[in-house]
Amino acid sequence: MSIDWQRLGFQYLDTNGHVCHVWRDGRWDAGEFVQEPYLRLHIAATALHYGQACFEGLKAFCRRDGEIRLFRPLDNARRMAATARRLCIPEVPEELFLDAVRRVIRANLEFVPPYGTGGSLYVRPLLIGSGPQIGVSPATEYAFLVLVTPVGAYYKGGLTPVRATVLDQYDRTAPLGVGNVKVAGNYAAGLEPHLIAQRQGFAIELYLDAREHRYVDEFGTSNLIGISRDGAYVTPRSDSILPSITNHGLQELARERGMDVQVRPVLFEELRSFAEVAACGTAVVITPVNEIVRGGEVIRIGPATGCGPVLQSLYERYTAIQVGDAEDVFGWTVAI
Ligand SMILES: Cc1ncc(COP(=O)(O)O)c(C=O)c1O
Repeated sequence: MSIDWQRLGFQYLDTNGHVCHVWRDGRWDAGEFVQEPYLRLHIAATALHYGQACFEGLKAFCRRDGEIRLFRPLDNARRMAATARRLCIPEVPEELFLDAVRRVIRANLEFVPPYGTGGSLYVRPLLIGSGPQIGVSPATEYAFLVLVTPVGAYYKGGLTPVRATVLDQYDRTAPLGVGNVKVAGNYAAGLEPHLIAQRQGFAIELYLDAREHRYVDEFGTSNLIGISRDGAYVTPRSDSILPSITNHGLQELARERGMDVQVRPVLFEELRSFAEVAACGTAVVITPVNEIVRGGEVIRIGPATGCGPVLQSLYERYTAIQVGDAEDVFGWTVAI
């Protein structure tokens, strides 16, 4: 196997295999390592028909000394448990989640991008209703699967800003729906608006609150963060957005620097007043957003090229902690 680490993007690459645990008769089994990237799934599995499916996304990094460490896996375990409760799926206990993640990484060590390449091993836990059900009701059998795939550095040079759009004819979620959990179907619902945004020349789409379209919710696959002109870290509070682990971590780093952190409703108009805006999430950490278009209205934010200084320095500190170049003062990294 030879991987060109410099050319890796964010694409699926086959590895040595995945880990699979099955829940049956009220308990999770000991799990097995499966080499082939296919499932034998019942044709009436509830995941296929009724969307009883959810997932997570986290990363493992190789450090300068060669040690591989996970980044905040228990936060993903807890978020998956919250999603499972909402979908009437039995929760995966935290220890089992962590054991399965460690097991699949240990079996795929040669796929962890080396230190200095900017890459990481992306870990994708998946939890699905695998038992048959023809009426709409929860399954009696579930599968917890964990796959890994190596991903490359998103930014080869500096952080590159993107344009975002608001498509007022689409919502990501309903006001009392499932926007706050990582349900697979949320992403199917987002595909059409995402492709429309892309065709119109926008990298990402921004959603407003589904009830009134007055407040900012989040981007299709990331939270919104803004730096106000007086230097506060501002991010929307909403019951319909996914609690981003990256956003939470960046808030901690902002507080560490003595910044005022405001998690509160953010009116769409307020975006105009921000000095810097970005999308944040595990895949890229921070994507600066320098333009937001809604109908005929264009909002320009921050420098036309590159990233604003505050987000740039939060990004640098965050990624330094991830790869072990800065001390892990928050206890975010976990041994495999
Ligand atoms: C809808 C949505 N919001 C936000 C995020 C960012 O969350 P995190 O920082 O935990 O990756 C994601 C990615 O998981 C997402 O899918």
